[in-house]
Amino acid sequence: MKLWDKLSLRTRLTLLHSGLLALIVCILGVTFFIDTRNLLIENTASHLRARAKPIIEHWLYGQKNHLPTSDDLKQIAKSLARDLTSRNTVALILDKHGRTIANGKMLPEEPSPPSPNPVYYSQALAGKNEVNYIISQSNHHTLVILIPLRQTPTSQKIIGVVQLSSPLTSVEQTLFYHGLYLATGALITLFMGFGLGFLLTSSALRGLKRVINICQEISKGNLNLRVNLPKRQDEIGQLAHAFDKMVECIESTFEAQRRFVANAAHELRTPLTVLRGSLDVLLRGSQDDPAAVTRLSQGMYQEVTRLARLCDQLLDLAKLETSTKIQKRPLNLNDFFKNFITQAQLLTQGRRIVLREGPFVTLVVDPDMLKQILFNLLYNAIQHTDETGTITLGWKLIPNQVEIWIADNGEGISPQDLPHIFEPFYRGKNATSKRKKGTGLGLALVKSMIEAHNGHIEVKSQLGQGTVFTFRLPLH
Ligand SMILES: Nc1ncnc2c1ncn2[C@@H]1O[C@H](COP(=O)(O)OP(=O)(O)OP(=O)(O)O)[C@@H](O)[C@H]1O
Ligand SMILES: [Mg+2]
Repeated sequence: MKLWDKLSLRTRLTLLHSGLLALIVCILGVTFFIDTRNLLIENTASHLRARAKPIIEHWLYGQKNHLPTSDDLKQIAKSLARDLTSRNTVALILDKHGRTIANGKMLPEEPSPPSPNPVYYSQALAGKNEVNYIISQSNHHTLVILIPLRQTPTSQKIIGVVQLSSPLTSVEQTLFYHGLYLATGALITLFMGFGLGFLLTSSALRGLKRVINICQEISKGNLNLRVNLPKRQDEIGQLAHAFDKMVECIESTFEAQRRFVANAAHELRTPLTVLRGSLDVLLRGSQDDPAAVTRLSQGMYQEVTRLARLCDQLLDLAKLETSTKIQKRPLNLNDFFKNFITQAQLLTQGRRIVLREGPFVTLVVDPDMLKQILFNLLYNAIQHTDETGTITLGWKLIPNQVEIWIADNGEGISPQDLPHIFEPFYRGKNATSKRKKGTGLGLALVKSMIEAHNGHIEVKSQLGQGTVFTFRLPLH
């Protein structure tokens, strides 16, 4: 078992297949050999009987004037035995007590008859017609057949038995060559089967070997490698395809993580540099100039606030990614939005805010998260709309879901920025140039929070016209 486990899959499959082939060839060969042997012996026996029949009839029933008796048999036994004997067959005539009364062998080249076997001749004396058996004589086999001699062809009265014996030399020779051809054929089949099996298994498993090699390379860090077996449609081809897809997925996740860490480090470095610069100036003696101290402290306070916000957002994102624990409870949207608008009006700095109420609906959500989502979107809308602008919020029911939107008629998002705005740390070009710098994490958080509710968010925007964010949440 241990050794079997150590063998490669290719060797195991080849051995298994060759073993099965050998078994089938052996069973077929042996069955065929035994059948042929029986057929040849049967034929020889029938031939001997057919040849003996007219001779026996001639001597026994030739004289029509009376039925042959045991005495008649004794008289004709010698001639009958002689007529039944030929170069490869010798006849013995036995009386009804099993005693030999004539032996047909006269010439030295004629085979010697085996002595009668009482087990078999008693069967013939009892009237059994087909008594055949084989005995071993020196270095060959001899076929012995027994023919009961009846008073008439249909009578039950047996007056003696003819024993014909014939060496099976020619049958054995034929069988020997037959066996030789069979064994050669079986060996050739086995060799070809083994070779072909080996080739087929090797070619079938070649793809697997490639998968193993690529796996080993990938484990060393070469994530850009692929198995790439597009021509193979079998299970190994499918495995290679699935493997390539998985590695692609892992690679893009790694890449996204790497980008995230690099961006986070970059974002953290900027305020830290500002803080260090300000502290340097303060330490070098500016503390004696109260105006400079106030200016620097204010700047440092802003940077620390920015750092704290960044840390909070990063923590929120990490929490959303590692746990799906959200505190859902039924929430009436009409009440929720009325409260939200009251708070939102404090932030809009003169911009008009309009609520388009949808139907009465109760939603199962985490209310704090929903508030955070809407505040993030609202804060963006305020950032990118001038003071005369209008921000519209509303909701409507769709099957099993509620669709919430927040639209503004501000500066809009350029088509180049649009596909990236949900990526962490991505800030639109207009946002970085003109407006106060955000961290670029707001929409990434919004998206994560909506997805944690099994929802989905979309954006439509036109430069100079405005932007609409629409998200759907399941009702339960
Ligand atoms: N309503 C909007 N109108 C125009 N541009 C928008 C709007 N909302 C988002 N954007 C664009 O999408 C970018 C990403 O927004 P996101 O809220 O993720 O980051 P941010 O607002 O720059 O920073 P943060 O929200 O983390 O302080 C913004 O920089 C801006 O370019
Ligand atoms: Mg934002």
